[in-house]
Amino acid sequence: MKSAYHHNIPSEDPELTHVDKGKPMGELLRRYWQPVALSSELAELPRKVRILCEDLVLFRDGDGKVGCLDAHCAHRGASLEFGRVEPDGIRCCLHGWKYTTAGQCIDMPCEAEGFCARQDVWQPSYPVQEFGGLVFIYMGPPEQMPLLPMYDIIDPSRTGVEVRGMRLWEDHSIGFVRDCNWLQHYENVVDPWHLLILHNMISGDQFGSVITEGEEIDISFETTDLGVRYRFVKPLPNGNTLERYTECIMPNIFLVSNIHEDGSVPKDKDKCTEVSWAVPVDNTHLYGISLVAWPLEDGKPVEGWKPGTDTMTNIRPGNLRDRPYEEKQRKPDDMEAQESQRPIVVHALERLTPSDKGVSMVRQQLRRGLAAIAAGEDPPNIVRDPGENRAIPTSAWNTIYPPTSAEAAE
Ligand code: FES
Ligand SMILES: [Fe+2]
Repeated sequence: MKSAYHHNIPSEDPELTHVDKGKPMGELLRRYWQPVALSSELAELPRKVRILCEDLVLFRDGDGKVGCLDAHCAHRGASLEFGRVEPDGIRCCLHGWKYTTAGQCIDMPCEAEGFCARQDVWQPSYPVQEFGGLVFIYMGPPEQMPLLPMYDIIDPSRTGVEVRGMRLWEDHSIGFVRDCNWLQHYENVVDPWHLLILHNMISGDQFGSVITEGEEIDISFETTDLGVRYRFVKPLPNGNTLERYTECIMPNIFLVSNIHEDGSVPKDKDKCTEVSWAVPVDNTHLYGISLVAWPLEDGKPVEGWKPGTDTMTNIRPGNLRDRPYEEKQRKPDDMEAQESQRPIVVHALERLTPSDKGVSMVRQQLRRGLAAIAAGEDPPNIVRDPGENRAIPTSAWNTIYPPTSAEAAE
């Protein structure tokens, strides 16, 4: 027997889990454009966001330009989330200082004429760009700013789809996991075994698909040009065979191929339809947000189409936060499993096994990214050349082989 009396709990691994500015992982994540809101969420009111332990305020001015400013007014600290959006900037509620989207203070109504111009006050700000209905900000060193990578799923040259920014409502994230460190949610993407246990054996089939059922499953892990993926192969009861790949793109993008696959129709490389980000709010919270390639028919969005992972259009009961506690105990889902690993999972207490290989590989690759920055190099997946920023190939898809397929037998 091992008594729990004075059971020693070591601290978490700050190198991989802490995202404050100045911390290694915080600096790594700041080297990439991070999605902070849907474009549609910026209307006449400002919007407060917390990301990587920083409080920021987004607003859209009269020209449609989006600003991302430090939340606390440079005068005496009132939050600009209570400011008034005006055609040429945002005006602080307390004494009316007004800032442009670039952060320049252009009005101090309580001061004498000419005072504001002489002071040359700038509210700290971050660069902003919008793409596909999402607002992205870059929080890293200005001289290191990369391009927003155009992965094949969302590439503007792609025909037959419309790229849409999507998430669940305010309190939730795609996947609905929220109150824990970002890494335990991210690593879950390359943990295929939990599909079989949590989402089937323990809680019953939570996806309504062939993915979580069955035996004779062959699971392996491999590195890709962009990160890590798992391969999951299994014969289906109907005689077809499923081959599934799901990928983590370093450092915090993930591609989950359709979890609702029913396996009835043979298909070759049915690619993941979303590029999703696990974005740390701080060290113990995250949100998920996605660019979804929504199919078009005759140039119009296909109505009733459902993205392959969980979004607002596609909610499963286990995703609801306010389920009765006993129901959560009887049928836990990702939220219960991941948030209960502790607010920040303690790596020193884990016993990683061969089935956790995907998790180990993600951590290894993240550490390589940290080492690259420490050596003054670019971390992985930094794109700077516009000529190369086209339809970057990703590697997450489902293939359904018919019974006669020779490949399926391999
Ligand atoms: S605190 Fe913002 S204008 Fe005074
Ligand atoms: Fe899951």
